[in-house]
Amino acid sequence: MRLLVVGANGLLGSNVVDAGQQRGWDVCGTYHSTRPAFDVPLAQFDLGDYEEFGKILGEYEPDVVVNCAAMTDVDGCEQDPERAQLLNGDAPGGLAAQCDDRDVEFVHISTDYVFDGAARNPYTEEAAPNPVQAYGESKLAGERAVRSESETALIARLSFVWGIHRSTDDLTGFPAWVRGKLRSGEAVPLFTDQWVTPTRAGQAADTLLDLIAREKVELYHVACASCVTPYEFGTVIAEQMGADSALVREGTMADVDRAATRPTYSCLDVGNVEDELNRAQPTVREDVASVWNAVQ
Ligand SMILES: NC(=O)c1ccc[n+]([C@@H]2O[C@H](COP(=O)([O-])OP(=O)(O)OC[C@H]3O[C@@H](n4cnc5c(N)ncnc54)[C@H](OP(=O)(O)O)[C@@H]3O)[C@@H](O)[C@H]2O)c1
Repeated sequence: MRLLVVGANGLLGSNVVDAGQQRGWDVCGTYHSTRPAFDVPLAQFDLGDYEEFGKILGEYEPDVVVNCAAMTDVDGCEQDPERAQLLNGDAPGGLAAQCDDRDVEFVHISTDYVFDGAARNPYTEEAAPNPVQAYGESKLAGERAVRSESETALIARLSFVWGIHRSTDDLTGFPAWVRGKLRSGEAVPLFTDQWVTPTRAGQAADTLLDLIAREKVELYHVACASCVTPYEFGTVIAEQMGADSALVREGTMADVDRAATRPTYSCLDVGNVEDELNRAQPTVREDVASVWNAVQ
């Protein structure tokens, strides 16, 4: 299996490269601003030039493309919605069309932020999207563009992604920030009024490759099985570190001034992917425990 990872230097992309290598797949990738330290063929590629993607397909001749690249700065998308639409909305459709023309399988990554957060039970794949910020709008446009260009694409929605970046080996995302604060003995104020299903990038990468191996062409929610607040997630990290859990303090979303609105509740129901793969998604506690020895 020849796997081309678009966005190989991203947190998820680096884990997809690593997961492909672990399986003995023939892996190659693209990067945008930073060339990752993988010993695989890599090409520089800007999503903004998505019409040129055919050249990369011609050069590497992959069986499957996984698009992990995106404009992921939620507040940056709010400030530049045209660029968000170009990179997150238009480009994925262009990549999907060019893959479809060449009979290359296409996998696209989307987000829990396609939802408005009004729910109080985890969102299933059938729930109606209704994004409340430019990032979610652009990502939903990307999902729709991919589906209109390719009936066979696999689309996976993730939530609150964190993990070990597999090119730098650094812990990345929310747990790295919490760990840094706790290590220096600082109090960490964490939201008690936001609910997410934290997705460990390595677990998501393995799940994506499992779905690819099964030739799935649907929409799946891929996240952990725990719907938690950042406060609860931070408490799990403090326990795992053996840190003083009194340093984890209660905070609210209103305490932070940000350009983009966040949904208060964006937990994803992972029942479909569990049924398909006939195994349970990990709890957040299991996910943290599974990598902590490598990062402390
Ligand atoms: N992070 C989250 O909490 C979260 C939650 C739900 C869904 N997602 C989705 O999951 C996917 C992966 O996210 P991530 O967390 O791995 O993000 P990330 O670490 O920020 O990686 C984003 C990647 O996009 C690439 N990129 C940015 N602008 C580009 C451009 N103009 N052309 C080509 N590549 C460009 C970056 O390349 P360089 O590094 O080379 O610049 C980077 O590799 C995205 O689709 C994101 O929307 C993320």
